[in-house]
Amino acid sequence: MIIGVPKEIFPEEQRVALVPRGAEALRKMGFEIIIESSAGESADYSNAKYEEVGVKLAKDAKEVWASSDIILKVREPLDSEADMMKDGGTLISFFWPAKNGELLERLNAKNVTALAMDCIPRVTRAQKMDAVSSMGNIAGYRAVIEAANEFPHFFTGQITAAGKIDPAKVLIIGGGVAGLAAVGAAKGLGAIVRAFDTRLAVREQVESLGGEFLELDFPDEDGDGGGGYAKTMSDDFIKAEMKLFAEQAIDVDIIITTALIPGKKAPKLITSGMVESMREGSVIVDLAAEQGGNCSLTKPNKKVVHHGVTILGYTDLPSRMAALSSRLYSAGIVHLIEELGGTEKYNVDLENEVIRGALILQNGS
Ligand code: NAI
Repeated sequence: MIIGVPKEIFPEEQRVALVPRGAEALRKMGFEIIIESSAGESADYSNAKYEEVGVKLAKDAKEVWASSDIILKVREPLDSEADMMKDGGTLISFFWPAKNGELLERLNAKNVTALAMDCIPRVTRAQKMDAVSSMGNIAGYRAVIEAANEFPHFFTGQITAAGKIDPAKVLIIGGGVAGLAAVGAAKGLGAIVRAFDTRLAVREQVESLGGEFLELDFPDEDGDGGGGYAKTMSDDFIKAEMKLFAEQAIDVDIIITTALIPGKKAPKLITSGMVESMREGSVIVDLAAEQGGNCSLTKPNKKVVHHGVTILGYTDLPSRMAALSSRLYSAGIVHLIEELGGTEKYNVDLENEVIRGALILQNGS
């Protein structure tokens, strides 16, 4: 069986779906691998590194798409890519099927089997394949680094002969994978870190990373929707949490928002009034920018400055650390292919909850 890896063509995408180490593992499972020339370059993986582990280089994308039984990608295919997909082929990629209905139809017409990396269930056994989590982890860390880059002060406090400098105060909204990584990174830089989440289970996780979990004066309403994801909260709850954020906005220097309920538009939690109440030089990083943003002033992929407050709506945070994110994504893919049985026992097993969870297209349905 031939596995193909085209170069990502989504604007600004630096990642590659398979790194040389992953290619080596798949070769050991018996696959032949073909990769588009320079597909790994923007993630610091040269053609030579792939050739060293027995990967064949293709001169262009067409050759990869035409000759592969299984295509590995990071971003869901653009129309031009979907058109090159071989009839009856298999695609493993991020896909976000709920918002990509047209793409589903287009590939289904070609009898494609598609496994969506974003649909791998968040169960313990599947953690090694959970690319949403590995990317979220990087995004949370990088959000802190981007904030530090914009913030005109230290994160840590200092007492020097020149005077006393207070530590920065960081508020993290949403303590899922990205939020917890942000708590750890901001704490590591010496800031005072506070976090809030609708799921009460997050309290312990925040505290174990040295952050303070913010209390909400509201009758207990646990936001746990199962599987580590949230459920939609009542209007009164959202009102109460926004009151808390309004009080915090006056006090903190940096807000990192990661609040998300899968498949829903991001809840708007930070108003323009709250932004205007922040000190000049403060920074907001809105990780939910792609789903509409948690802050009403966020512009996806843009840096906006409003009343002296910088709002970052970057949606490519994992791609900004492309070598690492490609390595982790590639590891997830290799584990999924192992789960599929490698070359010897290759089987899209519907009884396997991980494969069944990820499977979004098969045999024309
Ligand atoms: P996750 O589902 O693990 O975490 C989201 C958290 O938000 C959950 O803990 C949930 O309980 C919490 N939440 C939901 N509604 C809330 C509310 N009203 N108030 C407070 N907390 C609330 O998701 P993950 O993996 O941590 O990702 C977070 C966000 O980061 C998502 O929007 C995701 O799309 C985005 N992301 C952005 C990237 C970028 O480059 N900008 C890259 C990767 C992820």
